[in-house]
Amino acid sequence: MSSRRNFIKKAGVLAAGSALPLSLVELSHANSADNFTFAFISDSHIQQIKGNQFVQNWDRGLQRAVAEANLLDPKPDFIMYGGDIAQIGTAAEIDHGLEILSGLRGNTHFVMGEHDYYLDLGEHWSKRLGDQYYSFDHKGVHFVVLNSILTHDDWTHKWSSGKERMGVMAGLDDPRGSPFMVGASQRAWLELDLKAVDNTTPVVVFSHSPLQKLFKNWNFWTDDAEQIQAILGRFNDVNVFYGHVHQIQYNQIGNIKFHSAMATAWPWPYPTSYAQATNYMPKLTVPMNRADPFFERDATGWQFIDIHTGKADIEYILPENDGRKLIYNKESGRPEDTQYQTQQKASQKHY
Ligand SMILES: [Fe+2]
Ligand SMILES: [Fe+2]
Repeated sequence: MSSRRNFIKKAGVLAAGSALPLSLVELSHANSADNFTFAFISDSHIQQIKGNQFVQNWDRGLQRAVAEANLLDPKPDFIMYGGDIAQIGTAAEIDHGLEILSGLRGNTHFVMGEHDYYLDLGEHWSKRLGDQYYSFDHKGVHFVVLNSILTHDDWTHKWSSGKERMGVMAGLDDPRGSPFMVGASQRAWLELDLKAVDNTTPVVVFSHSPLQKLFKNWNFWTDDAEQIQAILGRFNDVNVFYGHVHQIQYNQIGNIKFHSAMATAWPWPYPTSYAQATNYMPKLTVPMNRADPFFERDATGWQFIDIHTGKADIEYILPENDGRKLIYNKESGRPEDTQYQTQQKASQKHY
């Protein structure tokens, strides 16, 4: 696979191991000496069986991502973890996931996922990792991390136990769930945080759920997405990275580019293959053909995102599937799939 060889060369991976679920993001500046990369790992869903026994598939996905992140050359400036370390959010799962992640060589930042949160409302996660939303500046870029998986207080507190609440929120299509949101107090914090940031400063936002409304039935959704987008609207250059959807998605709304990260655990099918409810999957996203839906690593893989002056070119390396290359099209003003953009029906398998 020549495209994979190129990608590995481009990403600077020293060892030609298997392609793995890991994202590498490069931010280019006018002065190339200021360019830098960060790695993005997401959705490991570490699951305890009993005692110190954990589901091996999920452990292995995360272990491999950690190993590959450590091999990147140039070394990423930092690593971002996109949420859902755990499956049902127990201290044992979070601790086991963090133990694997402690193998990362480099500063790691974390995003809260709903699987980390709804058992104890983020208590153990916060004890280990600190703030659930925060911002930092790095080489001229303003980075913001949001907790986007909150919901209405009356829903949060109506359950007889945290375990019951988590069981409902952990189901992909459980109708008893509640839509995710960033919420009013965090939105107020975001406005304040961005007040001192100039319109020309590149802004990168991390959330767990997409800060856009894609498919409500599966909570591929953030209820106050439009309000967040409005807050980000004045900046020339905004990129939002998220996990949660366990699949390739890319979109552009006004000045904001959206990129999902593939999971280290398993891929979800595309909502477009489910006709029973309205979905708003972005036109730009061409669903992947799942070559072997019964192979747990099918439809997971690498992505390399090159952000130059706010325009994103993206290359996906999918070990069990055809690779993807998205190139920013100057005429249409958006990234487009070089191979499948106009062939959606032919490339999409419904099952
Ligand atoms: Fe997840
Ligand atoms: Fe999630």
